[in-house]
Amino acid sequence: MNVQNIVELSKATKAASEWWRGGVIYQIYPRSFQDSNDDGIGDLKGITQRLDYIADLGVDAIWISPFFKSPMKDFGYDVSDYRDVDPMFGSLEDFRVLLDQAHAKGLKVMIDLVLSHSSDQHPWFAESRTSRDNPKCDWYVWADPKPDGTPPNNWLSIFGGSAWQWEPRRLQYYLHNFLTSQPDLNFHNIAVQDALLDVARFWLEMGVDGFRLDTINFYFHDKQLRDNPALPMEERNASIAPAVNPYNHQDHLYSKSQPENIAFLERLRALTDEYESCACLGEVGDAQRGLEIMGEYTSGDRRMHMCYAFEFLEKRPLTAPYAKQVFDQLEEKAGDAWPCWAFSNHDVQRHASRWQLGDDAIRQHAVLMMCLRGSACLYQGEELGLHEVDVPFERLQDPYGIEFWPEFKGRDGCRTPMVWVAQDEQSGFTTGEPWLPISAAQAEQAVDRLEADDQSMLHHYRRAIALRRAHPALASGAQSDMTQIGPVLTFRRESASETVFCAFNLGADSKQIHLPKGDWRIIGRDLGGADGAENVMLHPAQFCLMAMDKG
Ligand code: BGC
Repeated sequence: MNVQNIVELSKATKAASEWWRGGVIYQIYPRSFQDSNDDGIGDLKGITQRLDYIADLGVDAIWISPFFKSPMKDFGYDVSDYRDVDPMFGSLEDFRVLLDQAHAKGLKVMIDLVLSHSSDQHPWFAESRTSRDNPKCDWYVWADPKPDGTPPNNWLSIFGGSAWQWEPRRLQYYLHNFLTSQPDLNFHNIAVQDALLDVARFWLEMGVDGFRLDTINFYFHDKQLRDNPALPMEERNASIAPAVNPYNHQDHLYSKSQPENIAFLERLRALTDEYESCACLGEVGDAQRGLEIMGEYTSGDRRMHMCYAFEFLEKRPLTAPYAKQVFDQLEEKAGDAWPCWAFSNHDVQRHASRWQLGDDAIRQHAVLMMCLRGSACLYQGEELGLHEVDVPFERLQDPYGIEFWPEFKGRDGCRTPMVWVAQDEQSGFTTGEPWLPISAAQAEQAVDRLEADDQSMLHHYRRAIALRRAHPALASGAQSDMTQIGPVLTFRRESASETVFCAFNLGADSKQIHLPKGDWRIIGRDLGGADGAENVMLHPAQFCLMAMDKG
């Protein structure tokens, strides 16, 4: 092999190990994907049965929301055994089969590690809460009451009320950023860090390709337990918690995003670097400093590979000025940060409903996602163009929705079961009673129906993903010249061999734009009338993509 071959080979190996950069990740919410044993709840065997469907989408990886042992108070985001599968979802053997079969189909598998907190049923917490001097006594965040008996400070739980819960056996409070049954682990204790890194190693040894890391900026709290300051009214942003939640009244300066976190993230990265091609995707929830933290956590190559961003999960629509503002800020605060964008997930209203998008706009947004710099997460059912389901109060499961109902209905509306077969009573999801209702409206867009129509949303998503794969500039190239022209957003992506020009009308009015001069070829478009080679009228929801080879 000559030197040139070796250089090429090492480039190819690097590119393969960087599959995550610009990769498309398909998020599976296991309870609602496919039931294989008719108990009305999806499971691992069900996912395995559907791997061909996922591979046919053309995505690079799947991220499976938690399937570990759990009392399911927060539907798996409350883990009572990090090294086992909840019987509801199957067994470790079922997971091994899923992993092997996914790999055989060329899919990477990312699992969702919830390290910031455990369930109160975890043996660590069961021991920790018994006394102030047991071996696990400082594995969680314990604090004395104020002299008047009230909690040690003003920190709030995202799911409502104080972030502190009283434990009569210790005569102390413990910290929980979410439910009272989700006590926060104490990351200031190195033994806790070591135990959690061992958990990560357990799954890496089994062969997983990466982690989606839940609430990564919540790992550490301020040791001095200082009060969070109030946030001025004009700075409140309901992107993490719903507007009716007083969590938005605080600037969470001390309860999360602490500087000590960096050293832990570096430990975690060093561990994952021992395993080839492993990727870490950290979820950063911070309504004020999200992009800044993303920059801090992904800069260089010793921390996270990418961070999961909330900017396009917000209620506010993805308009041209907003997109430009987000990317300008990203550039300014975190030039080399690597974001991972999502429009929908298991925590927010599906974007088709949230942004009131018609079919054309849903299609356009799918293409936009494939053109923006960053990795991309698609949430199950998004590829069918599904809208949110209105789950009646009597059927609500999500404690968050029950707490803030009716002003906020919680997260059940985006978690209803996947629709596979239009004519089936339970849409092919189960033959039992589904844990959340299946929507008749969604069933109209079931996979079998869309599969049969070459012009359907499902085929459109496949084409959009294929477009990104065919143009490395779109997946991992540089992004430049982002410009807002009225409702239209334009930008360029660039690889070593090609430049791609992208234009999207994200508004409600038509706008004529001037296309750049040169030897461009159209690689994707949804245009009304083009009025000349250099000018084009972009109507709402239309877009134009052109590529030019580099000389
Ligand atoms: C997950 C939620 C979960 C929370 C607490 C989030 O970011 O996505 O579903 O309730 O973390 O673990």
